[in-house]
Amino acid sequence: MDIKFMSPLNKNDLVLILGGSGLVGSALVRAFKAAHYTNIIAPSRRELDLLNSNEVSSYIIGKAPKIIIDAAAKVGGIHANNVYRADFILENLAIQNNLFKAALAAKVPNFIFLGSSCIYPKHCPQPILEEYLLTSELEPTNEPYAIAKIAGLKTAENIKRQYGLNYFSLMPTNLYGVGDNFHPENSHVIPGLIRRMDETIKAGSKIFKIWGTGRVKREFLYVDDLASACLFIAENKVDEHFFLNVGTGEDLEIGELAKKIGELMGFNGTYEFDTTKPDGTPRKVLDVSKIQKLGWKAKVSLHDGLVKTIDHFKTSAKLRVC
Ligand SMILES: NC(=O)c1ccc[n+]([C@@H]2O[C@H](COP(=O)([O-])OP(=O)(O)OC[C@H]3O[C@@H](n4cnc5c(N)ncnc54)[C@H](OP(=O)(O)O)[C@@H]3O)[C@@H](O)[C@H]2O)c1
Repeated sequence: MDIKFMSPLNKNDLVLILGGSGLVGSALVRAFKAAHYTNIIAPSRRELDLLNSNEVSSYIIGKAPKIIIDAAAKVGGIHANNVYRADFILENLAIQNNLFKAALAAKVPNFIFLGSSCIYPKHCPQPILEEYLLTSELEPTNEPYAIAKIAGLKTAENIKRQYGLNYFSLMPTNLYGVGDNFHPENSHVIPGLIRRMDETIKAGSKIFKIWGTGRVKREFLYVDDLASACLFIAENKVDEHFFLNVGTGEDLEIGELAKKIGELMGFNGTYEFDTTKPDGTPRKVLDVSKIQKLGWKAKVSLHDGLVKTIDHFKTSAKLRVC
């Protein structure tokens, strides 16, 4: 058995969450609060700029948290990843290195680093096993971001190997949910579709346009499920793995996803596929059998997750559109 069902954390231990204003970080704060952790801190960028190594070092040495969860990163869609290539690699390496160095200096015993499914090669067999890491070339558009994430998971792995500290990484699939970014250009697939669907309905149009054939298949995980996976890893020491995939293990066609969103938002027009636009990798789905074998499984169905996200989009006074 590769998991010790003994919490390395007490409910009053200091939990430091970075990136607390983001999609994942805000879900982590909710999850740890709901699990009755009483001592959670999630400093904003204004309180702690993670690009400033001196600030990070004195903050972490001063606080001496029992666990750090790093959900802070420069994140963006395909366009941003491809255009701001140098910023993506420089900022992400700096943020994670500053945190790892400070955590080591403060002898923080537990650390969870969040990577991404884009660390895997472009032409991987599907579903994607953890073993496929570094077996062939990455997707060129987000290579700088992926290289930074691979460096992060390797840093955590080698801190565990050299210093014996409980540093672990999780590789989530595409995420969505409350707190998502609905920016017209920088958003991910689901918030982007929700926003465009809303604009289509409001404009009175009866045609919803989708780039490509709509036949490519992708996997989506509701963000609270990722937070529950982080909580699971925080509370159960996993010794046999250095990192694990997190997802539902199920995928669906983008066209089908758009139609589900249209149904839930009350769109009664038709869907038009622009097949002159590129499709991307035909299928991308994680193999999640290792984390499931340890006892964690996603709970929120796509239907329920979409309902919550659409509701958040419609009712939230202050949507993130950065
Ligand atoms: N979203 C996804 O689909 C997805 C999928 C797989 C993996 N992930 C991973 O999950 C993690 C969180 O992603 P997310 O979607 O929650 O991103 P997000 O919503 O953009 O949040 C990123 C967070 O990082 C903070 N941050 C960035 N640079 C900072 C700096 N220099 N100093 C302090 N804080 C800084 C941001 O603060 P501000 O609010 O001040 O900008 C924000 O709180 C990332 O590691 C990402 O790679 C995300």
